[in-house]
Amino acid sequence: MNKIGIFYGPKKGSVSKIAQIMHNELGESRADLHAIKDCPVQTLNNYDKLIFGISTLGRTTWDSEHDDDDWDVFFPNLDKVNWTGKKVAIYGLGDQINYSDHFVDAIGWLFEKLITLKVEVVGFVSPDEFDFNDSEAFIDGNFVGLPLDEDNEPEKSEQRVKKWLVELEKEGF
Ligand SMILES: Cc1cc2nc3c(=O)[nH]c(=O)nc-3n(C[C@H](O)[C@H](O)[C@H](O)COP(=O)(O)O)c2cc1C
Repeated sequence: MNKIGIFYGPKKGSVSKIAQIMHNELGESRADLHAIKDCPVQTLNNYDKLIFGISTLGRTTWDSEHDDDDWDVFFPNLDKVNWTGKKVAIYGLGDQINYSDHFVDAIGWLFEKLITLKVEVVGFVSPDEFDFNDSEAFIDGNFVGLPLDEDNEPEKSEQRVKKWLVELEKEGF
């Protein structure tokens, strides 16, 4: 389908808040909004263009027994999908002050998994505006998705989202 599917988790909190902002910005006619927790993988299969929203709450592995994070529950589905040719963009919530060595790491964990599925990951972002020490999402000079920091820079989120959506459109969204 030609619409964009926005899939986010967890259901409440900053990731959810940003998902709503993105949906409002794109409009009902261009995008659908889904909490990843409520979605069977078939729902995602229907979209050729997906936006994934995730937060970093510490290192867990996707096959771990830790099951209280919505994405952790969904991740095993990614071993079974055929998403060759889909375009995916990732945004991630983090905290660059208190977690400066692991800023938005989860964008990187999701990215590493997605590239094994032969999807095209788009929407890389320059690190220039951010003040962090290290990140698993920082690869070859860019963030492999959009970092957002609602803990320290909430006033910047809306503008960052708008700018990113314009970039995504240039990349085929
Ligand atoms: C227990 C805990 C661990 C966190 N670990 C990280 C981290 O490793 N890296 C990071 O950038 N932010 C980290 N954060 C900050 C969250 O990612 C940030 O507050 C985010 O906005 C949470 O979004 P959510 O409420 O939608 O989950 C952590 C927060 C908590 C409470």
